[in-house]
Amino acid sequence: MGLQWSNDLSTGIIPIDDQHKEIIRRVNAFLAAMEAGKGKMKVVELMEFLSRYIVQHFHDEEFFMANERYDEFKAHKEQHMQFIKDFHAMEKEFETHGITTDLVIQTQQKVCDWLANHISKEDRKIVQFIKNNQ
Ligand SMILES: [Fe+2]
Ligand SMILES: [Fe+2]
Repeated sequence: MGLQWSNDLSTGIIPIDDQHKEIIRRVNAFLAAMEAGKGKMKVVELMEFLSRYIVQHFHDEEFFMANERYDEFKAHKEQHMQFIKDFHAMEKEFETHGITTDLVIQTQQKVCDWLANHISKEDRKIVQFIKNNQ
């Protein structure tokens, strides 16, 4: 289920790693709730947490990437911006329709799966870049 933290996800920057750990912890807690049939009870908690936290995280990570002169900075930032856009659309849908099964499923696919994939693949590319350029 979800994504587990391991050292090969480490960026070497403690605040970024701590943010990733917290995101993974929250996402996994939601996925566990979903499996227990309590997705609807926990979906708002996750969305409220992320609406503040993810903006800060992306901001910090972008600062880090720019600082390291990461060659795929623009494309990476673009992915962050697309996520925020999709996330806002989901928040709007929640405001209009409340907590629905569709919202829970969208959260799993567009938020949880996306974040697991992004942290394990895209964010790791930053780490690889830095290692190769040391
Ligand atoms: Fe990240
Ligand atoms: Fe990222």
